[in-house]
Order: sequence, then C-alpha cells, then structure tokens
Amino acid sequence: MRNEVSENPFRYGEIVTGDSFCNRKDEIRELSKYMLNSENVWFYSPRRYGKSSLIFECISKTRSHAITCYIDLFPTNSEEDYLRELAKKVAMATATTTKRLIDIAKTFFSSLAPSVTIGNDGNPTLKFGVNREGYVAHIAEEILDVPQKIAEKQKRPVVIVLDEFQEVSKYSDKKWQHKIRSYIQKHKNVSYIFAGSQKNMMANFFTKKESPLYNSALHFPLEPIVLEEFAKFIHRKFLKSQKRISGDVIADIYNFSRGSPHYIQYLCNVLWDMTPENSKSDKKKLSHAINILTAREEKLFINIVELLSRLELQVLIALATKETGEKILSMRFLQKHNLSSTSGVRAALIRMDEKGLLEKNGPDYEFTNPVFRYWISKKLSKYED
Ligand SMILES: Nc1ncnc2c1ncn2[C@@H]1O[C@H](COP(=O)(O)OP(=O)(O)OP(=O)(O)O)[C@@H](O)[C@H]1O
Ligand SMILES: [Mg+2]
Repeated sequence: MRNEVSENPFRYGEIVTGDSFCNRKDEIRELSKYMLNSENVWFYSPRRYGKSSLIFECISKTRSHAITCYIDLFPTNSEEDYLRELAKKVAMATATTTKRLIDIAKTFFSSLAPSVTIGNDGNPTLKFGVNREGYVAHIAEEILDVPQKIAEKQKRPVVIVLDEFQEVSKYSDKKWQHKIRSYIQKHKNVSYIFAGSQKNMMANFFTKKESPLYNSALHFPLEPIVLEEFAKFIHRKFLKSQKRISGDVIADIYNFSRGSPHYIQYLCNVLWDMTPENSKSDKKKLSHAINILTAREEKLFINIVELLSRLELQVLIALATKETGEKILSMRFLQKHNLSSTSGVRAALIRMDEKGLLEKNGPDYEFTNPVFRYWISKKLSKYED
C-alpha cells in the first residue's frame, strides 16, 4: 500500500496566490478598482512583504475585464531593455492565440521586426529582430504609446504593472522619467501600477517636487496583514492536514516575524514538517523550528557580520536586544550600550539601511530579517562591551 505524504501547505520564496494567499481582501478590491478605472498608483513595502503576490491576485481578478501586463524590471538595466520588455509583454498580454500574437506584434511593433517561435514547452515566444544599438531607444515614443493604442483598438482598459520599479534608477538616460511621465498622463485608458521595495527611492520618485514623476500616481499604503487573519489562515492549514496549533504559538510566530508574511510562512513550513499528524504544535517545537532556520542561514550571517565595522556591529547588537519602548538614539540607550557618538550611530544606521540590513520605520530602525536579529541577539550579544 502506498504511504501518502501530504504536501506542505506553507509556501515561501515564490509568488503566492489563491489558497496560499492570506486575506488582503480590502487591498485586492481597492487595487483592482484602480486598475479597472485606469488610475495610476504607486506603492511600496519592505522586501518579501507580498507586493508581487498581491499584484498577481489583482491581475487574476481583473483579467477578464482588462488587458493586464506584468513587467518585472529587476532584469532590466537600461531604457532599451525596458522598451523591449514593454513591447514583448504588452503583445503577449493582448494576444489570446499564437496567430493573434503574430498579428498584434506586426500591427503595433512592426519597426522591431517581430517573430514568434514555439519553445520546447509548446508556448510561443516573441522575439525582435532589431539588434542595432540605440535603435529601440530611437523609436521609444512609438513603443511607449502602444498601451493606449491597444486599449482603444481592443476597447478594453490596459493595466501595466511595473514591479521592482526602483530598478529604473540604474538607467543612464535620466530623461527617461520625463518621457514616461508624459505618456502616463496622456494614456486615459491605461492604469500604471508602480511597485517597489526601496522606501526612500519610491517616495522620492512620486512625492519629491523635483522628480519628473512627482504627483503622477496615487499612493496606496500597504499595511501588514493583521494577526487575526494570519491566525485563521494558519489554523485552517494545520487542521486540513489533521494537525493542530494553538493561538499562543501563532502569536509567537507573528511576533517573532514582526508580521512579515515571508517569515511567517517559512516558520510555519518548518513547524508543520515537525508536527506529526494527529498532534499539536507547541512552543518547544517552535523554538526548535527557529533554531533550524537560524542554522540554515548562519553562514550568510557570518559573511554579513565580517563586512561590518565595529560600530555597525555594536549598533546591530544594541538593536537586536532592544526592549519595547527603548529609543535607539536616546542618551540612556546609547550609554547602556557604550555607544559614545550619536552622529556616529545615526550614520551607521543609515549605512545599514542602505545595505538592506535595517529599515527605517518612523523614528525607529528594524531588522529586515527577523532570523538575523535573533541570531545576533543569541550569538553575539554576549560579546558586547
Ligand atoms: N497575502 C499573503 N498570504 C500569505 N503569504 C504571503 C502573502 N503575501 C506574501 N506572502 C509570503 O511572502 C512571500 C513573499 O511574497 P512576495 O514575493 O509577493 O513579496 P514581495 O514583496 O513581492 O517580495 P520582493 O520584495 O522580494 O519582490 C511569499 O512567498 C509568501 O511566503
Ligand atoms: Mg516582488
């Protein structure tokens, strides 16, 4: 007889949708409404907070009413890369069949000499025959205008999602942002959604008066998923596999992870594996699960710490062991941790924010990785002097 092994229901390190996606019902409703109403929206969240997953949920909700086009800017390095990606994704999102893909590519992107090949997986891929350097940028305006033309021709709104938008700061052509602004404003039947994970950069793009994109999109604040919603989600997944978990343990997972969906799912994944069927997860198993996560990432943490200055490390240790209510730049806190210079500490905090280790949240700084915070507090705090 075959022994059925059930699949772990907790997913991390990938975009999650459907049954693996917890709540965010209001956000899905609101963002989808903006998409269908051709509004432009920008939003930001820390890394692994669920931006892309939320976008995919909205895309699946709006797909039957609009032409939805998702573009990940992470692999792009220049305006030219952006334009190629835009052309490719717009054509692919508009076409419903391979034949339509060829027709659409030829109608809207004929200057790019498009051709369609069928890959080993049977799916069509669109290629452009134009490789001459600078040529694509030369016809930028023609490409940038296509989303609106398609919306008019197909009589459906078009949604262009630009995920990892902070990557555009790498592009050398600084006029590009001016150019894109003029199209965003002209396109009455297109919604542009800008998502990114670098708070300062995203805020600068859309809220600084000097920025070409100033006021070109509405801000959509992405709040954490509340504990109650995560508790229902986690309970349900445990119960479905004939396992149980108490509310206390879930609250500990949520607090340890500081509400980060990625770390909540990661911890639950490990904890679920450790819990046999017909039994209950408890705090002892949770602390074992946290140790497993820490051991998996320890080599990476050692590498990070080796590259820090002594002051940066001191500041990290102080932050990792900080009690609720303590203020990092207060005299009391600085004295407690033998940190003599306020300006030095401030500069170290800013540097570590830039390196992605910390993130500024109001007047406070928080670790972006709760496992790193835990490792520092357990392994290194005893060396503080
Ligand atoms: N609504 C959700 N419900 C459950 N888990 C979620 C949810 N949103 C995100 N997650 C968890 O967080 C992980 C990261 O999600 P996602 O990739 O969407 O975040 P992101 O903000 O786009 O990350 P990045 O900044 O790295 O692009 C997912 O793999 C999943 O484990
Ligand atoms: Mg993402």
